[in-house]
Amino acid sequence: MKRVALLISGGGSNMLALVRDMAGDHPARPVLVLSNDPMAGGLAKAAALGVPTAAVDHRPFGRDRAAFEAELLKPLLAAEPDIICLAGFMRILTPGFIRRFEGRMLNIHPSLLPKYPGLHTHQRALDAGDTEAGCTVHEVTAELDAGPLLGQARVPVLPGDTADALAARVLVEEHRLYPAVLRRFAAGDRTPVLLP
Ligand code: GRF
Repeated sequence: MKRVALLISGGGSNMLALVRDMAGDHPARPVLVLSNDPMAGGLAKAAALGVPTAAVDHRPFGRDRAAFEAELLKPLLAAEPDIICLAGFMRILTPGFIRRFEGRMLNIHPSLLPKYPGLHTHQRALDAGDTEAGCTVHEVTAELDAGPLLGQARVPVLPGDTADALAARVLVEEHRLYPAVLRRFAAGDRTPVLLP
């Protein structure tokens, strides 16, 4: 049974989708939900499902990412995860931190990578006049939002779409895609999951 740690910054809807799916014949179980914000709404939701939680506030560390990460590593390493899922985790991790977990750290990004790495993905898709958008699960590497693809889901861009409307449509697909990818990845299979 694989041990999974989930890193969140906010409400944790992706984290919840993953935790709820890790049951029955799933090859993995959640062992920790960790946040860079002690007030992140997802922490209470994880605790309510019986998953251990921890928080390391990044703000007191200012620009000192290494010092923040040294603290973040304490609860993380103590949980002995086999796999780490970034699920709405909004801090950029240093290459040194990423190298520690290379090949076993996943992230979900709300665009069809390699299109629109970074922020404001839905507005950028609308501004470009794209007819479809979506989300991507990828392995985390030192280059932001650029690691090997593990899954993608596509949605249509509809007439009159706002960034919020598109984000809501994509989020539904995120909650389907990420659990499907983790189930396959935890079984040792890196074949990309492609949802229509
Ligand atoms: C999601 O769209 C995710 O792709 C992005 O942050 C958003 C919030 O996710 N990284 P969650 O509800 O906190 O999981």
